[in-house]
Amino acid sequence: MNSTNDQKREQWASRSGFLLASIGSAAGLGNIWRFSYVAGENGGATFLVIYLLCILFIGLPIVIAEISIGRNAQGDAVLAFRHADPDHPWYIVGGVAVLGCFIILGFYGVVAGWSLKYFVSALSGHLWATSDYNNFFSGFISQPLEPVIWQAVMMTATVTVVAGGIQKGIETVNRILMPILALIVFILAIYSLTLDGAGKGLTFLFRPDWNAFSKPSVYIAAIGQAFFSLGIGMTIFLTYGAYLPKTFSIPGIASTIVVGDTLLALLAGLAIFPAVFSFGLSPAQGPELAFITLPGLFQLMPGGNLIAVLFFGLLVGAALTSMLSILEVPVAYFIRKTGQSRRTVTTSLGLVIFVVGIPASLGYSVFKPAGIGERNILEIYDYTISNLLLPLGGIATALFAGWGWGKAQALAKSGFHEGLAGQVWLFCLRFIGPIFIALAFFSAYLF
Ligand code: TRP
Repeated sequence: MNSTNDQKREQWASRSGFLLASIGSAAGLGNIWRFSYVAGENGGATFLVIYLLCILFIGLPIVIAEISIGRNAQGDAVLAFRHADPDHPWYIVGGVAVLGCFIILGFYGVVAGWSLKYFVSALSGHLWATSDYNNFFSGFISQPLEPVIWQAVMMTATVTVVAGGIQKGIETVNRILMPILALIVFILAIYSLTLDGAGKGLTFLFRPDWNAFSKPSVYIAAIGQAFFSLGIGMTIFLTYGAYLPKTFSIPGIASTIVVGDTLLALLAGLAIFPAVFSFGLSPAQGPELAFITLPGLFQLMPGGNLIAVLFFGLLVGAALTSMLSILEVPVAYFIRKTGQSRRTVTTSLGLVIFVVGIPASLGYSVFKPAGIGERNILEIYDYTISNLLLPLGGIATALFAGWGWGKAQALAKSGFHEGLAGQVWLFCLRFIGPIFIALAFFSAYLF
């Protein structure tokens, strides 16, 4: 039973390894698939402004808090909160996060599976056998078996990498994939911007409609997207931070992660909206934007076959690097709790999470009757996670680091020490994040 020590000994090989893995975690389906449709549904630029403010004043401070708590404890989510404050039940935040990751990865694996299906179809040319992508998509997701198989492939890949460990598995894969993904999104953005009529997409993305700022739903959507895209509130950075040596400056690393994630979301927006507008399509399509609107568009554009392969390859790679981090949260916890090997724990958890995802995967066929109102199971998972679980987990983390931990501890462990930056950080954690989120919730759900 020396698993705790074994786990403690695992560390990132280098600062850049941690950085790439963290950006890999943050940048995923959230930046491409989810960002584009949520921005599309919520008026584009107005949403973008609120989203960026949330990232800066709420997201970044929480990323710093998560890394600080994790690195200080050098242990999993539950252990880390208990270590930081043995006298109060803050470890519940860690426990909820460990459980939350089952649901997140359950549904995330489904959409990752769709991406893989489209990637393979684009490669094989099968994707071009139709021009009715509404039909193509609904035909695919209403199959009782096929979506589950693609989901299983993505889960297997995730389990294989995480079972390889922090350095050999997670760090290596991120080191290979992240530069490629960054290059692809860059190429796609430049291509999209050269299309005729691309300017309308830019206007949509960058010129806010000031009237829309009075809509509470836009704020909820922006908060949810900021949390989902960074991947905060579920102790991901805490868990990754626990493998970080005590010598690095956390605020610097956290800022780089946040800037990297935001740039990738913006680049993905630049790749998608100019192209959508250039072909006179609507961006407010909902979750199907990437799987119905875009393939139709790829079919029409010059060089679209290659663009489709690049786009869906990007989705698959970005999804995989995020799935690794979501799986690592329960893996770290259960390795300590059960004393089993990383390989055994990873495989067992992968299997359980796969099963959790199946209702979402089959929410368009077998599990259709289990939907609530307009929403099917996948949308219920997504909504509950992004608009409820993540903000609550995030607020709890902010309140802990801001109030529960104690000012001296928080400043010392984060590496801020005395000085203005540390005061601003604490102020954001104590007041701005919790108050803003509480206001948005009240106005959206009560009025
Ligand atoms: N941030 C990732 C994305 O944008 C997804 C993700 C990774 C995530 N870790 C998370 C989402 C933790 C919620 C919670 O796709």
